Amino acid sequence: MVAKFLNTNLHKASAAKKDEFYTQLVDIEKELKHYKDQFREKVVYCNCDDPFESNFFKYFAANFNALGLKKLITTSYTKSPIAGGQLSLFEIKGLKPDGKEPFKIEINEVSDNDADGAVGLSDVAWLLKNDSNIATPLKGNGDFRSAECIELLKQADIVVTNPPFSLFREYMAQLVECKKKFLIIGNTNALTYREIFKLVKDDKLRTGYTNFNVGMFFVVPDDWEQFHHIDKAGKKIARVSTSCWFTNLEVEKHKQCITLYKKYTPEEYPKYDNYDAINIDTYIDIPSDYKGAMGVPITFVDKYNPEQFEIIGLGISNSGIEIGVKPYKKEHKKYRKEIQKRGAVDGDLYMIKNGIVDVPYARVLIKNKQVKK
Ligand SMILES: C[S@@+](CC[C@H](N)C(=O)[O-])C[C@H]1O[C@@H](n2cnc3c(N)ncnc32)[C@H](O)[C@@H]1O
Repeated sequence: MVAKFLNTNLHKASAAKKDEFYTQLVDIEKELKHYKDQFREKVVYCNCDDPFESNFFKYFAANFNALGLKKLITTSYTKSPIAGGQLSLFEIKGLKPDGKEPFKIEINEVSDNDADGAVGLSDVAWLLKNDSNIATPLKGNGDFRSAECIELLKQADIVVTNPPFSLFREYMAQLVECKKKFLIIGNTNALTYREIFKLVKDDKLRTGYTNFNVGMFFVVPDDWEQFHHIDKAGKKIARVSTSCWFTNLEVEKHKQCITLYKKYTPEEYPKYDNYDAINIDTYIDIPSDYKGAMGVPITFVDKYNPEQFEIIGLGISNSGIEIGVKPYKKEHKKYRKEIQKRGAVDGDLYMIKNGIVDVPYARVLIKNKQVKK
């Protein structure tokens, strides 16, 4: 019993640790600059964001007028491990001094409150310090799934944040259920989740502008032993190579066609053994004249333009089975397990190259809509 309790708690602790990546202002600015027109007159909700630590709050508060926002709402979560520790920028009227109680901030207007002749973050700081209506304690713990946070979500037009990765599926499901616009940071691996991939396929989720292949750097708590470097402000910074932005806002690159310069030859593009499609190792090599199904690496979704291509599905495990990827032939499964000593999951696309079973990493099956004959 004790062991089980310890295990559960260790599991929770490790999940919480995975969630302690705090977004840098520069990364928010880099991405958000592309959507300015889409934020005008909108209610923005950051629902995993403590103003003491969140640069999302800082960004929207500082740019409230420049973006023409109607309202900014943020809610913080009780268990946030570095709440109150990192950005001691704000003093908030009506909150307990350590700032660790979950609370909500609602800003409807930012004017030159401190009368310094300009409107900016110092006016937000002034508002928080002097106006007790802006920040109010939450009744519950600030969980984005709690009834009071869902009520706030209903008021919102666009949700913007970096949510806890351990709850990503639930987080997305709630946004979809409430039919909200969103711009959030997530792990690229989430694209292989069945329900997340379905959103991509249906053009209800796309990647943002920030380079998909390079990952991002995040602030991590001071007590972390593994990190990439310490920045000029003395904060520990960690790299997450598989981070990207996900959104259902308009993104220009997903309206552009990939320039295709190759021609199909059976020699260059082998077929899978268990699905009628050719294999392609990088999206740049997609042949311009192939009408049938093609398997491309998952990074393709970062270039996906639904006018140019149709996504058939994901050629891995159950998602593959669902779209007709045949299970391993007995001898191939045996070969992979016994000779190659590798897992063999039915539904994964595979090829036979010189008698050897070759399973490429997570392929998306697509068709070029523009090839007619
Ligand atoms: C990856 S961090 C990002 C924090 C902040 N949004 C940012 O980008 O810097 C995720 C945040 O979500 C908070 N969190 C964890 N579980 C939550 C929940 N169930 N509801 C709301 N927030 C949660 C964590 O405390 C943490 O502050």
